[in-house]
Amino acid sequence: MQLLKWSLGLSVALLLIGGLGLFALHRENQVLQEEVQRLSHLIEERPVELATFMASYERFLTKLHQAGTAQNWELAAFYYEELEETAEQLEKLNVSDDGVPVSAMMRPNLIEPLEAVEKAIQARNKAAFQAALKGVVARCNSCHVAAGKPYVRFALPEEGQPIRQLFSKDTDN
Ligand code: HEC
Repeated sequence: MQLLKWSLGLSVALLLIGGLGLFALHRENQVLQEEVQRLSHLIEERPVELATFMASYERFLTKLHQAGTAQNWELAAFYYEELEETAEQLEKLNVSDDGVPVSAMMRPNLIEPLEAVEKAIQARNKAAFQAALKGVVARCNSCHVAAGKPYVRFALPEEGQPIRQLFSKDTDN
């Protein structure tokens, strides 16, 4: 009899613990669901703004060019890193713009052309740096053409000239 009472008591205790556990799990699930809802909401409200990325590319590219032109290789290496990291960020985001797979186009059009810039900085070679920068700007331009934005154009930097966007409609300046 004593034994029966004992095992009954134990079963009730186990049931209670189990029930509590299930309740905790259910609560946790609810909290997680609410969190997912909150985060999806954030993503919908803040889509990747391509132009913001582009504005950083222009800024980092301009500063990179000026640092290299001044042969301040430490500063050039700093801006090279910033530009490369931001390019990889956009690549990872997997975005398309009006059907143009912009993220997938980042590697051939920016990340790869940047390799020559890195080599020139490591070699502290001003002529190679200038040539590599020209190559990068040409790819910025060709990606804009491929992405249906041919009017976003930059002049290929000549020796001693800063990088600049072209605002005139003429194709040769
Ligand atoms: C993968 C293709 C691609 C590459 C590479 C690329 N761009 Fe762009 N760029 C775009 C697209 C697409 C837009 C239009 C964005 C929009 O519609 O909001 C754009 C827009 C811009 C703009 C207009 C926004 C502004 O702030 O005025 C600038 C400037 C720009 N890019 C600079 C650059 C520079 C500089 C480089 C090279 C270092 C570069 N881009 C490389 C695709 C590219």
